[in-house]
Amino acid sequence: FSAFLTDSFGRQHSYLRISLTEKCNLRCQYCMPEEGVPLTPKADLLTTEEILTLARLFVKEGVDKIRLTGGEPLIRPDVVDIVAQLHRLEGLRTIGITTNGINLARLLPQLQKAGLSAINISLDTLVPAKFEFIVRRKGFHKVMEGIHKAIELGYSPVKVNCVVMRGLNEDELLDFVALTEGLPLDVRFIEYMPFDGNKWNFKKMVSYKEMLDTLRQQWPELEKLPEEESSTAKAFKVPGFRGQVSFITSMSEHFCGTCNRLRITADGNLKVCLFGNSEVSLRDHLRVGASEEELLQIIGAAVGRKKRQHAELLLMLQDSPPAIPSISSQDPFR
Ligand code: GTP
Ligand code: 5AD
Ligand code: SF4
Repeated sequence: FSAFLTDSFGRQHSYLRISLTEKCNLRCQYCMPEEGVPLTPKADLLTTEEILTLARLFVKEGVDKIRLTGGEPLIRPDVVDIVAQLHRLEGLRTIGITTNGINLARLLPQLQKAGLSAINISLDTLVPAKFEFIVRRKGFHKVMEGIHKAIELGYSPVKVNCVVMRGLNEDELLDFVALTEGLPLDVRFIEYMPFDGNKWNFKKMVSYKEMLDTLRQQWPELEKLPEEESSTAKAFKVPGFRGQVSFITSMSEHFCGTCNRLRITADGNLKVCLFGNSEVSLRDHLRVGASEEELLQIIGAAVGRKKRQHAELLLMLQDSPPAIPSISSQDPFR
């Protein structure tokens, strides 16, 4: 495995998340303010060609999974073309997308043909009116349609990301689990994390332990599934159900030790950690004609500086409110 993508703790970074846009067609309360996020001028965003140049380089060095994120990746007009071109990269085994699902039913047949292999869809409630409250837009039925289309086209499991917030949707945990009885879904309950301006509050977070207790009261037979390497999620299954449920415990039990992710923001910065603010601009180097070797040196240096874990979060959990270090909402989608 490439030394450039291996950090000082021996973690090999074979999973690259590329943000295709900062824009979004929803305004989820936990992610964006009503007015949206300040947008980077178009000229500063990576062009499709630049995205592919970088992807090619990372894949050559050992990245075998790329996930397209945003903002909302499906609002980038050439998203299908990007998937098709990524699909030609030898060595790339998985091309995933994390989407809010609004445009999914419409685009999925083309995306599948282009080579899209994995889909994660955000959905925090099964109550249409609550959906509109949380995301400040309409679209519940479109998202459900997207989920069903993904199942129909054979994606398995279709991952559903549900950010759990006290007082808002923690009363729906059992309904979400019930969905997995007949559908091949992986419903992933995510601990609510602080982002710039999302009014995160310690009390709003529902921990993994608490969620698990709730589930076990209804389904004591809930069974833990074996851990997948470098996964963000701890998976469980109600015996006999078609799908499964998982927990993403970013707050209460971080998974930094096995982190294999790198990120490229829509404006071309390399981020070695979701919670780290040190970013290096690959775009700037590309635009002055840096060679592959020079880019690799820059990438390798950034990876080499990656910290062992995001200690801030653990501190925060010990003594709740004070100074909360948060993730910049400039590129909310990690
Ligand atoms: P898979 O590739 O299917 O495993 O999905 P994923 O969990 O890596 O990605 P997804 O975009 O579906 O994100 C789900 C949740 O995991 C989000 O709430 C992310 O914030 C969180 N997450 C993703 N990557 C990281 C990470 O590197 N660190 C932390 N702490 N959380 C992450
Ligand atoms: N805490 C936890 N997860 C979040 N997401 C967005 N904002 C937050 C937050 N504050 C989730 C979205 C999406 C995934 C990539 O990140 O729901 O599914
Ligand atoms: Fe858009 Fe996703 Fe943020 Fe919601 S969480 S506003 S869908 S980017």
